[in-house]
Amino acid sequence: MTGGRTSSVSANGSLCPRGFLRLKTANCSPYCCNSPRRRREAGVLLQEGGATRMGLYERYVLPRLLALAMRNHALVPFRERIGRAASGRVLELGVGTGLNLAFYGPDVTSFVGIDPSPALITMAARRARAAQFPIQLLEADGEQLPFEARSVDTVVTTWTMCSVGDPVRALQEVRRVLRPGGVLLFVEHGRAPDENVRWWQDRLTPSWRRISGGCNLNRKMDDLVQSAGFYLDDMTTGYLAGPKPLTFMYEGRARPG
Ligand SMILES: C[S@@+](CC[C@H](N)C(=O)[O-])C[C@H]1O[C@@H](n2cnc3c(N)ncnc32)[C@H](O)[C@@H]1O
Repeated sequence: MTGGRTSSVSANGSLCPRGFLRLKTANCSPYCCNSPRRRREAGVLLQEGGATRMGLYERYVLPRLLALAMRNHALVPFRERIGRAASGRVLELGVGTGLNLAFYGPDVTSFVGIDPSPALITMAARRARAAQFPIQLLEADGEQLPFEARSVDTVVTTWTMCSVGDPVRALQEVRRVLRPGGVLLFVEHGRAPDENVRWWQDRLTPSWRRISGGCNLNRKMDDLVQSAGFYLDDMTTGYLAGPKPLTFMYEGRARPG
């Protein structure tokens, strides 16, 4: 792993370079987190004084709203398909509360989940206890991945690229860390094909971004993936039930070009 905003752990009983306490949990999966009290409660890891500067809404309210929204049952079939398709060393961008973890199968040999939100990482750490493979959770930004080039077999993003500041940069980072033959698996909501829906997406996005943690409703996922240098192996699109500006989905698989 290379330098970045965070350091990782893979052992227990010592401090990593940024002062993270390394612990092992009951099922011996290694974890790394860097937020204060809630992380201690989760029985995971602790970096003293490691709090990030953000507002009360972003720190306390938004993570709980996201956690609730992402438990939507309609998303489960997407999570199942991604979980079945992932293999080897898996990196998940925007791991959130770790809702995909339950769906990864025996082909996954190890897992790293990154997310810029300490609160979400803490929630993911609770879910990670049940996993059957080694897990690392890092507070990090998808635009600057703290990993060696060509070190990951599968990258997963589920409903994350809508809120990354510069999605093409993040996808270029994904391309950098993927091994030759590695695969990007994604499910994202985004720009709809219907003009009237797109009209609403463009108008709603500025206000929606403010309350949703920077989520853009109008990103065209296939264009972003291809402009970051990927070949699209396949992609399925369509609306889920619900308000159309929020529910046009892109589900696909891409390889570094
Ligand atoms: C709607 S949630 C989806 C969470 C999770 N992927 C899931 O399927 O439940 C969006 C996630 O993207 C994360 N995120 C936002 N900006 C990011 C960035 N620059 N790099 C990585 N993750 C980011 C958020 O913190 C949040 O966890």
